[in-house]
Amino acid sequence: MNHSYLSNAFGTRHPIVNAPMAGAAGGHLAAAVSAAGGLGMVGVGASATKEWIDRHIGTAAAAGPAWGAGVMAWALQDSLDPLHHILQYRPSLVSVSFGDPGTALAMVRQSGAKTAVQIGNQADLQQALDYEVDVIVVRGAEAGGHGRNDAGTLPLLQLALEATSTPVLAAGGIATARGVAAALAAGAAGVWVGTRFTTAAESVMSGPFKDRIGAAGVDDTVYSRAFDLAQQLNWPPQFGGRALSNAFTSQWAGREDELEEKIRQGSGITEQMRAARADDNADTAPVYAGQAAALTGGGQTARDIVDELAGYRAHLKDAAAWL
Ligand SMILES: Cc1cc2nc3c(=O)[nH]c(=O)nc-3n(C[C@H](O)[C@H](O)[C@H](O)COP(=O)(O)O)c2cc1C
Repeated sequence: MNHSYLSNAFGTRHPIVNAPMAGAAGGHLAAAVSAAGGLGMVGVGASATKEWIDRHIGTAAAAGPAWGAGVMAWALQDSLDPLHHILQYRPSLVSVSFGDPGTALAMVRQSGAKTAVQIGNQADLQQALDYEVDVIVVRGAEAGGHGRNDAGTLPLLQLALEATSTPVLAAGGIATARGVAAALAAGAAGVWVGTRFTTAAESVMSGPFKDRIGAAGVDDTVYSRAFDLAQQLNWPPQFGGRALSNAFTSQWAGREDELEEKIRQGSGITEQMRAARADDNADTAPVYAGQAAALTGGGQTARDIVDELAGYRAHLKDAAAWL
């Protein structure tokens, strides 16, 4: 059941989902991944406007047979209007991550879409089981972007697969056909790949940021809340983010309390961060990416990447020699 879940539910040809990534996975990336036989997801950021949703969700919906969207639970606490608007475009899958997803999940379910939640520790897994979501995404600490820093992908994957027959997708650090094969051989229903798609031609990430990810090594990322504090964003403290290390993280990662105090005193750091983002200055601004940045190059389309990841079959065949 697990191995055929994505194809049965969404008509995919490959068990490959692009992670919804605010700042990278807009409508064109999602549409391209779905067209290539995977499941394309649009990452809807906390500050996405109605116009942004119309443009990006509209693009995915117009192009694809099946597509999905990812929203952040904490960002919907004040208003469910953005989700309501997304659902009018009839996505096939909606992930609600980072916070209590309860009310949002009920809305998604009522719309007829399948539900997903990203989990990062044991308590998250229990919560996802209690809510009876359709798909559990185990997101290990090596993943790019926001989430927990509590456990790695492989321990979480084994934990979830032992605990439930709900389809489980593996996320965090998966960027090659070998990684896909490993997750599938363990019993995952598919993979949820973020960082590898950040540099795709269709990704909305800026060119200079893509170049930095393409040049990064496996130990060139850092997990921190420093960027959220600097921008005065309302991310709950348990969800920091993994990004490329740069001059800003060298100064502030690990010194978050001091940074918070400095910002309270009106140090100008928030304005500097805003300017750095506007200028695509990767020495100061956050470039969200996981450890798989080391396996991520540039100059490929989403279809190139899906085709390459679909090479997992050869690795599974090789692995069958163990039988
Ligand atoms: C640039 C970037 C932006 C992200 N934005 C979101 C987001 O908007 N919503 C979300 O649920 N997850 C977001 N994530 C996390 C991904 O859903 C996923 O957990 C992660 O990318 C998987 O690990 P990987 O990057 O190692 O492939 C983001 C990740 C990255 C790299």
